[in-house]
Amino acid sequence: VTAFVPTYDLPSVNRQILLGRRPDGIPLEADFMRREASIPEIAHGQFLVRNLYLSVDPAQRGWASDVSNYSTAVQIGDVMRALAVGAIVDSKNPAFPAGAYVYGWFGWQDYAAASANDVLTAFAAPVAPLSAYAGLFGINGLTADISLSRYGHVAPGDTVLVSTAAGAVGSLVCQLAKAAGAYVVGLTGSDAKCRKLLDVYGLDRALNYHVPDLDEGIAAAAPEGVNLFFDSTGGPVLDMVLRRMAVAGRLIQCGTASIASWSPLPLGPRNEREILTRRLSWNGFVVFDHLSEFNAAISRLQHRMAAGQLHFEEHILQDFGQSAGALELLYSGRNEGKLLVWTG
Ligand SMILES: NC(=O)c1ccc[n+]([C@@H]2O[C@H](COP(=O)([O-])OP(=O)(O)OC[C@H]3O[C@@H](n4cnc5c(N)ncnc54)[C@H](OP(=O)(O)O)[C@@H]3O)[C@@H](O)[C@H]2O)c1
Repeated sequence: VTAFVPTYDLPSVNRQILLGRRPDGIPLEADFMRREASIPEIAHGQFLVRNLYLSVDPAQRGWASDVSNYSTAVQIGDVMRALAVGAIVDSKNPAFPAGAYVYGWFGWQDYAAASANDVLTAFAAPVAPLSAYAGLFGINGLTADISLSRYGHVAPGDTVLVSTAAGAVGSLVCQLAKAAGAYVVGLTGSDAKCRKLLDVYGLDRALNYHVPDLDEGIAAAAPEGVNLFFDSTGGPVLDMVLRRMAVAGRLIQCGTASIASWSPLPLGPRNEREILTRRLSWNGFVVFDHLSEFNAAISRLQHRMAAGQLHFEEHILQDFGQSAGALELLYSGRNEGKLLVWTG
């Protein structure tokens, strides 16, 4: 245990959160079941991970539903698929020795019998609080950094609009765009979060997307149009922004948080004319397509962190059992930063 890893215990049972039934839209606490299993045996090539921070990610809604997205559905009765960061406490794989730390596909449980394929990043000793490896240096930071480097093409003077701006991915996108010289406008769900975007994250403008005159607000914030829309919500706000894009504008589609269910298919206005006449480029982005870029992106983020250029908030639930209700919390917008569950 280093200064960056809080003291943790090694429970004698494996607490697990299982998917109990298919959620109808946003997964509710009642959609999950709790079980205490025995600590898994590791086979040759495997290692035992003591999960310390469980990640709570909007994408879990898609994994829990049977409407396919970019990955297969979690089966009813299975441990809920989740990313987590933890310590290796036993190993039959010399590449992943006991005492090292890993971030990967270890599920909402205390222990995982893991293989190399389950690991996204591995590190001998953390150089920042361990929780950062599941957020700032996890898929949230990686998504912000890699998607902007590939598709953002942010130039000084650009107007960049960001949805879920006060969240884990969005707050980093805003700060990276600011650092690239853009005028950054954030969308978020409350006036308190708008204030935080201005006062803490240093944005130029912040808009509460619940107000009835949002369209006028966007027009006033981007009088010459939006050059880059980094969108994680989709839905009516996206339809509105498409009509406020500058010519040759870019969109990065990172998520669809505002669409509670894809069945039946939600309908909206036809937008192809906006794409044509404004010559827009619209890129879908899935961070897991970029595994080979993770280490370089983490180095960039660590460098910026060390230089004091990034503010990153974590919202850490302190009780294992809170995992089951954590997606409800996330989709209510009551999280203040990266949502994690401490299990130690
Ligand atoms: N494509 C990828 O590879 C990838 C990887 C990681 C994350 N993502 C996506 O990035 C987005 C942010 O993820 P995160 O982990 O950083 O979570 P987050 O932003 O910390 O938390 C989710 C936020 O979404 C907002 N939200 C919830 N329901 C909404 C709705 N109906 N309409 C608009 N906003 C809503 C809430 O903030 P407000 O209070 O502002 O409403 C909530 O705090 C998600 O869409 C996620 O799926 C994509």
